[in-house]
Amino acid sequence: MPPTTVRRILATSALPYANGQIHLGHLVEYIQTDIFVRFQKLRGHHAIYLCADDTHGTAIMIRARVEGRSERELIAAMRTDHLADFSRFQIAFDHYGSTDSDANRQLCGEVWQALRGRGLVTSREVRQLYDPTAGVFLADRFVRGTCPRCQGADQYGDSCELCGATYSPADLIDPVSTLSGAVPEVRSAEHLFVTLEAMHSFLQEWTQSSGALDPRIANYLSGHFLGEELRDWDISRPAPYFGFEIPDAPGHYWYVWFDAPIGYMAATSEWCAAQAGAGESFDRWWRRGGVNEPPAEIHHFIGKDITYFHTLFWPAMLEAAGLTLPTRVRVHGFLTVNGQKMSKSRGTFLLARTYLDHLDPGMLRYFYAAKLSGDIDDIDLNLEEFTAKVNADLVGKVVNLASRTARWLESSGLSARYPDDGGLFAQAATEGTEIAAAYEACDFARAMRIIMAAADRANAYVDAQQPWKLAKGGPEASGRLQDVASVALNLFRQLAVYLAPVLPEFATQVGNLVGGPITSWDQSQQPVVGSSVGTFQPLMRRVEAAHVEALQQASLAQAPVTPPGASPMEPQTTPTDPAEPLAAEPLAAECTIDDFAKIDLRVARIVNAEEVPEAKKLLKLTLSLGGEARRTVFAGIKGFHTPESLVGRLVVVVANLAPRQMKFGLSEGMVAAASGAGAPGVYLLSPDSGALPGMRLH
Ligand code: 2FM
Ligand code: ZN
Repeated sequence: MPPTTVRRILATSALPYANGQIHLGHLVEYIQTDIFVRFQKLRGHHAIYLCADDTHGTAIMIRARVEGRSERELIAAMRTDHLADFSRFQIAFDHYGSTDSDANRQLCGEVWQALRGRGLVTSREVRQLYDPTAGVFLADRFVRGTCPRCQGADQYGDSCELCGATYSPADLIDPVSTLSGAVPEVRSAEHLFVTLEAMHSFLQEWTQSSGALDPRIANYLSGHFLGEELRDWDISRPAPYFGFEIPDAPGHYWYVWFDAPIGYMAATSEWCAAQAGAGESFDRWWRRGGVNEPPAEIHHFIGKDITYFHTLFWPAMLEAAGLTLPTRVRVHGFLTVNGQKMSKSRGTFLLARTYLDHLDPGMLRYFYAAKLSGDIDDIDLNLEEFTAKVNADLVGKVVNLASRTARWLESSGLSARYPDDGGLFAQAATEGTEIAAAYEACDFARAMRIIMAAADRANAYVDAQQPWKLAKGGPEASGRLQDVASVALNLFRQLAVYLAPVLPEFATQVGNLVGGPITSWDQSQQPVVGSSVGTFQPLMRRVEAAHVEALQQASLAQAPVTPPGASPMEPQTTPTDPAEPLAAEPLAAECTIDDFAKIDLRVARIVNAEEVPEAKKLLKLTLSLGGEARRTVFAGIKGFHTPESLVGRLVVVVANLAPRQMKFGLSEGMVAAASGAGAPGVYLLSPDSGALPGMRLH
């Protein structure tokens, strides 16, 4: 049964930078988007999944230089690696482009002309550090020197790791360029800016009322940006820069964040061109009006750190150019592993390819699906939980259904009529509506819960019918055995249809075993009768603790992600730190070291975390300061952290803060956390591994 209205849905994931390998943090988003698109296709909608490598910018230029090859050689090699990883994780892009493409250059030109035409481009001088030997302007992280605050040696150009001070690179004492060792100069260069403030009222309306954003994101934008004048957006970089030269401003290049989202459109244009004769055109997806059909839906899946770009700059550019605005920007949280940020020293910085050497990609897809509920909370890959959940659900509940019944149907095939199953198939068929609604809302966790409850009922049926006894019962029991096994295998196939967006390869194998290819959601509504049944092959094996241990060991041993010869300071996946957080909240008045010493900051372990039902923002934390010392603290982090993800985690607490009586109880300290412009959320501070509760921060 085709859906009554076929929707046209274009989904994107954030374009990965072409200077780093794909890791399990990236995969949260690609798997999420892939599940969404596969679901839409299974429902009969015209859905496409587009992505591309994000190839431009200083970091790629410098990495290529360090590696002694051209930028284009570097991005070509990285593209091959990215595509191999995505394909093995069963991520099915309809097209995977590159921001360094002709289509992208042309579309950048078009958007640029629109911005110019609306008088939204202005220019002014910007002072920046320049490396006279390497001949490049230096991003802050390519400068090291002595901290102007604490005199600590060898600190970054924008912040000190020893005292936490943030400053301008021009204030560093004895600054040195990490690229060449030269002393950088402060130079002025002309930059072009988009005057975003001119779009303020549009952005106010779109962010708050279009329905494209989760209310939490809308509130964040309203609280951090839209309450005041929007700052001009610095959109150009002077040569040398790896990117597109601005046609009407020779020597100036579009900043990577200008051409990156336009890459979504370039990928569409290339995909349309490849659909020869299929009536696809770029305009049908991206141009407003003019085409006699409802507008296409555009869904961008992104991490919360790039909210700012996708919810302010990007819609402003689209609006200015008269292009289709996003239907929905779906923001997800970060991945933690075992409750903490991925860490190379803990063996939890897991690259996609290292995972694939040890574990089944379908298992990670399922685990992520079971964790993703469509909101912006971080998700945790606790490796013990992963092992237990995959074994219990996929192996123990789903595969088990077929492994204990399929063999009895190999010669007879399925019963010619669907036997009485006490209403089990019909019940799960009815639940298809709820499961579909959960997939549609990206609440995959809910979809998985409903599916697993159906699997439980199916297993209870097999337990009660005891087919293994019928198998010993002689010819008179064989009809009954065929019926019981036919019910079990139909319930199994029904689960496979519901799980197909999450486990596409598994669904293919199930189709081969019984009933033919799974191609439509409606196949969950009708049992299969009379058809042959293939030979059962183990569809998934249990995860053993040893596999997970081997994965962590391999991750620990893996070659450093920093390329040989590259500056160890060069971050691999975040080449452009936005200036907004610091700009939006300037530094506080200077304090002395004695002032600082009054504040007793300690490492603490969260030993309990619970909701405070009456409080919108608070979680009640019990902290251990070591030994028997405990503190109760009410922390304003609800909505950004779930209690379960906090227990066991090390944090930093202001331990000598005067206790404060709150409505809900006495709060005996404050947990240190960061928040501000640039990304929504409240970010808890964690010490390096090895720190112990009670240790003081100096
Ligand atoms: O943050 C990142 O990894 C960027 N490469 C994402 C770009 S998304 C889009 F705008 F192209
Ligand atoms: Zn310092």
